[in-house]
Amino acid sequence: MRILGIESSCDECSMAVVEDGKRILSNVIATQIDIHRPYKGVVPEIASRLHTEWIVPVLNDALSKAGITLKEIEGIAVTNRPGLIGSLLVGLSFAKGLSMSLGIPYIGINHIKAHLYAPLLEEDIPYPFIGLLVSGGHTIICRVDGFDSIEILGTTIDDACGEAFDKVAKFYDFGYPGGVAIDKLARNGNSKAFNFPGPNLHKGDHRYDISYSGLKTAVVNQLDQFWNREYEKTPENIAASFQKTAINILLKRLKRVIEDTGLRRVVAGGGVAANSYLRSELSAMKEVTTVYPSLPLCTDNGAMIAGIGYHYLARGEAAPLSETVSARVTGFRKAYP
Ligand code: KG4
Ligand code: ZN
Repeated sequence: MRILGIESSCDECSMAVVEDGKRILSNVIATQIDIHRPYKGVVPEIASRLHTEWIVPVLNDALSKAGITLKEIEGIAVTNRPGLIGSLLVGLSFAKGLSMSLGIPYIGINHIKAHLYAPLLEEDIPYPFIGLLVSGGHTIICRVDGFDSIEILGTTIDDACGEAFDKVAKFYDFGYPGGVAIDKLARNGNSKAFNFPGPNLHKGDHRYDISYSGLKTAVVNQLDQFWNREYEKTPENIAASFQKTAINILLKRLKRVIEDTGLRRVVAGGGVAANSYLRSELSAMKEVTTVYPSLPLCTDNGAMIAGIGYHYLARGEAAPLSETVSARVTGFRKAYP
C-alpha cells in the first residue's frame, strides 16, 4: 500500500511516498530555516504562507522522485497535531482536497508518535522501548509499546529542550538554529567555566519531569552568579557549560526511567537527538542501546508520517472531512509510579 505522507507542522514542508509502512520511495524535505534566520526563530505567519507556496512543488518532487503518478497513491497521511495552527491547516486542507479528488482515504497523524516511528523505517526494533523525543517544541520521555501505544512518563513543565538552546543562542547571537550553533561552539569550550543550576523536580508527580526555564534564566540573566572566575567568559565556554547542564538534566530523568522500567533500549528522535554531547553520553551508558534515526528522519519529515499512517489506514481507519488540527499534544496516557 503506497501512502503519501504530508508534514507541515512547523518550518519544514515535506512530502514522502512510503510503501507498506517501511519502504521509502521518496522523502522530500524543503526547509524554511534560511527564511526564518533573520528573525532568529520561526515566524508562524511566514511559515504558513510558505507552506501554501511550496506544497504543490514539494508534492510534484516527491512523486517524481518516487517514480509514480498521483493516481498510484492509495492513501494519505498528514500531520494534524501538535504544531503551528496555520502551518498544520495548510497540510490538512491539502490532504482533504487530494483525498476527495482522488477518492482515497486520509488519516490525521500525531507528529510525536510519528517521530517515535521514524527509526522503524530503517531497522526492526522490537517493542517495548523507551522513547526520548527532544526537539524545538517537545521534550518527552515515554514508554513505547506499539506504534499507537505510547505512555508519556516525563515531559517538560515549561520550555522544550531545543527551545532552551534556541533562546540562549538568540540572546547571545550565537547563530540559528541555536542548537546547531551551540553544539559547534561547545566543542572548543570548557564546560566547567559556569556551574549552571538544574531543576529540583524529583518528588511526587514530577519524578521524570523536566524544566528548562530556570537554566535559561541563569544563562541569560544571571551569568556572573554562576561564573567560575578562573575561566574566561567566552561564547565557547558559555555554550559548553549550558549544553552540558541542559543535556545532563535530560539524562538524569532518562536514567531514572531506565532504572524504574527495566527497559534497556532507547529510541531517540527530534532535532536535539543530533547533539554531539548527548550522543557521546548515551553511547557511554553501557547498560542501554540507543537507536537514532538517520538525519533526514530525525528532523521533521514526511516519511515518518506516511510510515505510521500506513498502519492506521491498513486497519481500516480513515479521518472524516471534519477532522481538525490541534496545537497541543493529545492522545497519550500519562503515567507516574
Ligand atoms: O525536530 P526539529 O527539527 O523540529 C522541531 O522542533 O519539531 O528540532 C529542531 C530543534 C531546534 O530547537 C534546534 O536548535 C535543535 O532541534 N537542534 C539541536 C541540534 N540540532 C538541532 N539542539 C542541540 N544540538 C544540536 N546539534
Ligand atoms: Zn518534530
